[in-house]
Amino acid sequence: MNKEITVVAVDGPSASGKSTVSRRVAAATKDFIYVDSGSLYRGVTWKCIREGVDVRDTQEVTNLLIRMNMELFVENRAVRYRIDGVDPGQEIRGAAVRESVAEIAAQQPVRVYIVEKLRTMAAFGSLVMEGRDIGSVVFPDTPFKYYLDADPEERARRRSAEIKVSEGTDDVGAVLNALKRRDRKDATRATSPLQIALGAKIINSTGMGIEEVVQVILDDLRAAGAIPPAEA
Ligand code: C5P
Repeated sequence: MNKEITVVAVDGPSASGKSTVSRRVAAATKDFIYVDSGSLYRGVTWKCIREGVDVRDTQEVTNLLIRMNMELFVENRAVRYRIDGVDPGQEIRGAAVRESVAEIAAQQPVRVYIVEKLRTMAAFGSLVMEGRDIGSVVFPDTPFKYYLDADPEERARRRSAEIKVSEGTDDVGAVLNALKRRDRKDATRATSPLQIALGAKIINSTGMGIEEVVQVILDDLRAAGAIPPAEA
């Protein structure tokens, strides 16, 4: 990693507030770029569905990874991508991708492919990267690691509010079950399971406002001299 580049790793389970917090931390700085690493796993899943590739067939998925081209670029201080020239847009947030993404993310060749992509992003500049294994695997040397958590019921409420907006349904019970299933899969998979990285600061955001969580991280970055006091 380049000496002047700072990586802020924000890990945690689904709907723990990672996206909102990470976006706001990046926005509060002058030049940090926001990265949603989950969107890359979702992108590969989207491509599999589009190409009719069986998401459980690692050989088929690997062949797809070899022939496809995921091109990264920065827009509005966020890393985005196109796959074979196509921006999947909001399709990666839909039910089909949501239901298969943990299956895809559990496969070793997919992880090798995405981790490599995520590491190359340091060439874009300082990053606030959210995910499941950023502090443990992708950038284990960064001193800025945060593990965001919240009670499952609180996370299900947040996620169902999001889904209500995009899909017009808000069954909290069903969302809670799906969330627990995905968390279990993420936490028990053999490769890079969701875990608290060594040295990560744990923030349980249940009952905490987003701004409070953002301030904890910004205060830390300021205290370490990673961002100047005037920036935030
Ligand atoms: O963060 P998001 O919910 O969009 O992530 C979708 C899925 O991608 C997760 O459930 C997990 O299976 C996978 N993921 C991962 N490692 C990351 C980010 C996401 O395995 N760093």
